[in-house]
Amino acid sequence: MNDSTLTINSAPAPAAPIAAPSRRLVSLGALWPFVRPYRSKLVLAFLLLCGGSAAMLTVPMAMRDLIDHGFTAGAAIHWHFIALFGIAVVWGLMSAGRFYTVTWIGERVTADLRSAIYARMLSQSPEFFETTKTGEVLSRLTADTTLVQTVVGSSLSMGLRSAFQFVGGMAMLAITSVKLFAIIIVLLVLVVVPLIAVGRGVKRLSRESQDRIADTSAVAGEILNAMPTVQAFTHEAYETGRYDRTVAQSFDSAIRRTRLRAGMTAGMITGVFGAIVFVLWIGAQAVIAGSMTAGDLASFILYAIVTAGGVGTIAEVWGDVMRAAGATGRLMELLAAEPVIRAPAAPVHLPESRQASVRFEAVRFHYPSRPQTAALDGITLDIAPGETVALVGPSGAGKTTLFQLLLRFYDVGAGAIRFNGIDLRALDPSALRSHIGIVPQDAVIFSADAYENIRYGNADATDEEVIAAARTARADEFIARLPEGYKTFLGERGVRLSGGQRQRIAIARAVLKNPPLLLLDEATSALDAESEALVQRGLEAAMQGRTTLIIAHRLSTVQRADRIVVMEQGRVVEIGTPAELLKSGGLYARLASLQLVV
Ligand SMILES: Nc1ncnc2c1ncn2[C@@H]1O[C@H](COP(=O)(O)OP(=O)(O)O)[C@@H](O)[C@H]1O
Ligand SMILES: [Mg+2]
Repeated sequence: MNDSTLTINSAPAPAAPIAAPSRRLVSLGALWPFVRPYRSKLVLAFLLLCGGSAAMLTVPMAMRDLIDHGFTAGAAIHWHFIALFGIAVVWGLMSAGRFYTVTWIGERVTADLRSAIYARMLSQSPEFFETTKTGEVLSRLTADTTLVQTVVGSSLSMGLRSAFQFVGGMAMLAITSVKLFAIIIVLLVLVVVPLIAVGRGVKRLSRESQDRIADTSAVAGEILNAMPTVQAFTHEAYETGRYDRTVAQSFDSAIRRTRLRAGMTAGMITGVFGAIVFVLWIGAQAVIAGSMTAGDLASFILYAIVTAGGVGTIAEVWGDVMRAAGATGRLMELLAAEPVIRAPAAPVHLPESRQASVRFEAVRFHYPSRPQTAALDGITLDIAPGETVALVGPSGAGKTTLFQLLLRFYDVGAGAIRFNGIDLRALDPSALRSHIGIVPQDAVIFSADAYENIRYGNADATDEEVIAAARTARADEFIARLPEGYKTFLGERGVRLSGGQRQRIAIARAVLKNPPLLLLDEATSALDAESEALVQRGLEAAMQGRTTLIIAHRLSTVQRADRIVVMEQGRVVEIGTPAELLKSGGLYARLASLQLVV
């Protein structure tokens, strides 16, 4: 079920080009590193499989003895039944053990695989997510790994068991009666081959119906996320109709599949039992003629059933194995993705310091997805420890890009950025980032309570420290008024916070982190006057005693800065103290006279 709804974003299996089976099967080998740690369990599963299969193959023999000798020998009859029951117990225990062990391996391997891929994704640079849809990654993490789990955790063991069953059954059939063996082979081919063909059709149709179900949820998902728009345009009836049509399609394809399946069931039961009846008939004549015992005949029929069951299961499992091979290929691609930004082999040690200076040296940069236009075009800028610098300029000037480069989400195209005199490329990115706090324009709230949300800035902080940070950021007053105070669940399905409140949470986070360098992206969204004043005071408190770069939109913020950097189209066009810039009568003076800073 999961599987079907989550394939919306990933390339659904039927659309994937069908590569040569051998090549796709090979990709399953890539799972070995994940299975290897559990190889002792694997050996155990294999031994249990052998034991279980052997027990199963003994059952018809025990039956034969029972029929041929059990009814004649007076006292021995009990022993025949006890032996038969004993075999059943061994068979049952071995099967249960194998089922448990194999499922355990499957679940474990899938869990490890998910964790490995997730960790890999979290190490990727932003560039990766510009080209990869998060929906696709999510679907691979769930749907593709589930396919792998099916195969490692059941299909492979079922397939192996069936192969044992098939080979062992065939051998026993031939040993029991060569003549009947020849007949049953012909019958099995006549019955099983058409069934496999029909089974393929069923598989194709069931895939189709899964895709239809995925369509249904895609339609519903999109609309449910846009309910206010749908209702505002009174499109409810239209959308209901659209959904009804998709549901109808999914119903049709499910019914087509079911029809084929029903036919297949009829064919299977009549075909298999027809074959058995036929063999019984031939065999009964042999028994009457005295060339075969009744026990031989009974065990023969049982072996025939075992063998046919083996063939059926192998056919069923084969499709799963192929699909899992495809899924493994896609997962391995994700796992192989190398992060663009990595720590150098021998990173320069960044000494702990409460001071932060930043130097941009003729920095040139363009985003990987836009190689023609320079987002930054020769930026040179020196920021002294403790200084507050306001970045001002029209939208698209490159202000946010400066922050991205400082955090080393991207590497500069030309020139260099230095933090406390060290080139960013020589540092371990996580060492650098531990010295920087950022308050983004649109703060992210995680689905956790207020404590945890603020503690994102410093996982070790005590509750008291969290509350102190919230006070500094002026977030304390609104959090205290929430239904459960700091324990109130914020985020997705929790309390809805206003833009100003979210930003104050983000400021509290930065305060708690207490970094020497603070990057602030002032909110542009129309905060109401009260929360604007509160955010402003929160920001000012946060800026105390550290180097601050602030992307400023409010004249009041700009005027309080030590220096103002005016940017336009990736270049610095003016730089100076507020007073100097006002006097020079440039872009900033014009904007200031209009009481507005873009
Ligand atoms: N991820 C990105 N990929 C490609 N281009 C980008 C990306 N982010 C920003 N840009 C472009 O880079 C330029 C500078 O953007 P930005 O630094 O966000 O401007 P500002 O913050 O000053 O409004 C703009 O032309 C913008 O369209
Ligand atoms: Mg911006």
